[in-house]
Amino acid sequence: MSDSTPNATQQKWDTIYSNGNEMDVPPMRVVAENLHLLPASGRGLELACGLAANSFALAQAGMTMDAWDISPVAVKRVAQRAADKGLPVHAEARDVVENPPGDESYDLVVVSHFLDRSIMPAIKACLKPGGLVFYQTFTQTKVSDGGPSNLEFRLADGELLQLFGDFQPLVYREEGRVGMLTQGFRNEALLVARKPL
Ligand SMILES: C[S@@+](CC[C@H](N)C(=O)[O-])C[C@H]1O[C@@H](n2cnc3c(N)ncnc32)[C@H](O)[C@@H]1O
Repeated sequence: MSDSTPNATQQKWDTIYSNGNEMDVPPMRVVAENLHLLPASGRGLELACGLAANSFALAQAGMTMDAWDISPVAVKRVAQRAADKGLPVHAEARDVVENPPGDESYDLVVVSHFLDRSIMPAIKACLKPGGLVFYQTFTQTKVSDGGPSNLEFRLADGELLQLFGDFQPLVYREEGRVGMLTQGFRNEALLVARKPL
C-alpha cells in the first residue's frame, strides 16, 4: 500500500461523511455545559473532530480552533462551514495516532467519541500548564446500545479520571447503571480537567 492509499479507517469515515448531510449537530455535553470554564480567548485543538461541532461552539465562545480528523471528506466540510460562518476553525486531515500533536502549544484540547489510549501522553503534553482537557466518550458499562461494540474503544468504570489522574478534575460525570436507568447521563463519561501549572 502506498502512502497515498487511504487506509480502512479513513475509507470507512469518508463513506459515512459523504452520505450524511446534517452539519448543524450540537456540541457534546462536555462542551455545551462547561463553556463558562474557558479562558476569554486562546488556542484550542479538537482531535478526531468529525464535523467539528465542538470546535464551532468553542470558536463561537472565543477560542481559535484547530480541528483534525483522518477523514478528508469531513475536513473539507468543516473547512467550508468555517468559511461560510467566518469562524476560526482550521481543519486539517491528519491521523492523530500516527501524527499526534507536539508539546505545550494549546490552551484547550477536546475529544469526543474517540478513544485511543496511546495518544493520552501527547494530549497531555500538547497542553500549556493550566490548559484544559474536555473529554467525553462511551463507557463499557451501559444501559442501552449505541457506540462501538468493541470494548477496547470504550472506557472502563472510572477510567477517564484515572487517565487524567495527574490533572485537576473540574467536572466529572459517569452514572453507570445506578438508580433509575431510564434517566440521567448514561452510556458515556465526561471530564473537564486542568493541567497543573
Ligand atoms: C464517532 S466519530 C466522532 C466524531 C466527533 N468527535 C464527534 O464526537 O462527533 C469518530 C471520528 O474519529 C475519526 N478518526 C478515527 N480514527 C482516527 C485517527 N487515527 N486520526 C484522526 N481521526 C480519526 C473518524 O474519522 C471520525 O470522525
